[in-house]
Amino acid sequence: MIHNDTLSAVFVGTALWFTAGLVPAAQQATQPRPKFISPTPAQPIPFSHRVHIAKAGLECKNCHPVPEPGEFATIPKTSKCMSCHRTVEKDDPAVRRLAEFHNENKPVPWRRLYRIPDYVYFSHKDHLAKGATCETCHGPVHERDVLRKEKETSMAACMKCHRAQKASLSCNYCHEQR
Ligand code: HEC
Ligand code: HEC
Ligand code: HEC
Ligand code: HEC
Ligand code: HEC
Repeated sequence: MIHNDTLSAVFVGTALWFTAGLVPAAQQATQPRPKFISPTPAQPIPFSHRVHIAKAGLECKNCHPVPEPGEFATIPKTSKCMSCHRTVEKDDPAVRRLAEFHNENKPVPWRRLYRIPDYVYFSHKDHLAKGATCETCHGPVHERDVLRKEKETSMAACMKCHRAQKASLSCNYCHEQR
């Protein structure tokens, strides 16, 4: 079983998400959100990175292999999950929901956290090759029962690191395929 605190974290996240939507805009303006904190989206299945890394002994690359040409880390298909969950915790309600998606041949509709517009060029492979780690851009994912976007992917955030590491700041570096 996943621990109760995981489940309550999911519910707290859901509650915050809904509350944020109900607060009138004027009131929200007087309560500015802290800068790097974004709401935790309600996921269709409660998935814990912490449990899967600590208990199932998985590494990031087992589920996010960064396939060639290396632009995306990718999100695993249900078949990957089912390689264990055909037997592991198969009577758990969340695992049953997972099996339903799989049997109906539907992808799990995960709410995405990190997304940059299509007009920006970005490569996971190239950044990993330059020594960046997953944690640099996504935080300590292995400690998280529920993920939220905890690092910025704004142009300013990209620029900040490019400036610090003496990578190019020219517009067409990121906005055109060279
Ligand atoms: C290498 C085997 C393995 C893979 C692959 C795997 N899991 Fe798990 N999963 C586990 C183990 C082990 C647990 C923890 C069981 C426990 O708490 O003792 C677990 C727990 C869970 C739970 C919580 C069940 C509960 O205890 O309430 C869910 C939901 C879940 N996994 C979903 C997924 C999803 C979604 C994927 C694919 C993205 C996935 N798992 C891939 C092994 C795996
Ligand atoms: C068992 C498979 C599995 C493993 C192992 C795993 N992940 Fe994930 N990851 C997922 C699934 C499923 C999602 C989508 C659900 C979610 O956001 O929690 C996801 C989502 C993410 C996201 C958010 C993507 C987005 O834009 O929505 C990041 C970032 C991420 N993982 C990083 C990591 C890192 C870093 C590691 C290693 C420390 C790791 N993952 C290990 C399955 C896995
Ligand atoms: C230099 C910053 C950076 C590093 C390092 C990085 N990521 Fe990402 N990651 C991003 C950005 C930016 C996006 C959004 C990409 C997009 O929308 O095209 C993203 C998206 C993702 C996603 C969503 C699916 C996808 O591929 O778009 C996952 C999963 C993910 N990253 C996992 C990882 C893992 C695992 C590592 C380590 C192996 C890692 N990331 C390293 C910046 C980074
Ligand atoms: C952790 C620091 C860091 C962050 C954060 C970062 N970059 Fe980079 N980036 C680098 C370094 C270092 C290089 C390699 C420079 C070199 O090769 O001279 C690079 C290279 C690149 C390249 C060229 C790679 C290639 O294929 O030739 C692009 C495009 C790029 N970054 C876009 C981005 C975008 C877009 C973001 C934000 C979403 C971003 N970067 C965030 C450090 C970073
Ligand atoms: C290191 C990568 C990087 C470089 C260099 C860069 N940009 Fe960007 N730019 C981004 C990213 C990432 C976004 C998207 C941010 C987001 O998620 O909305 C963006 C967005 C934009 C947008 C849309 C902004 C908006 O508010 O919608 C414009 C316009 C833009 N950039 C112009 C420029 C110009 C002009 C330069 C040169 C001075 C430049 N960029 C250099 C990464 C970069």
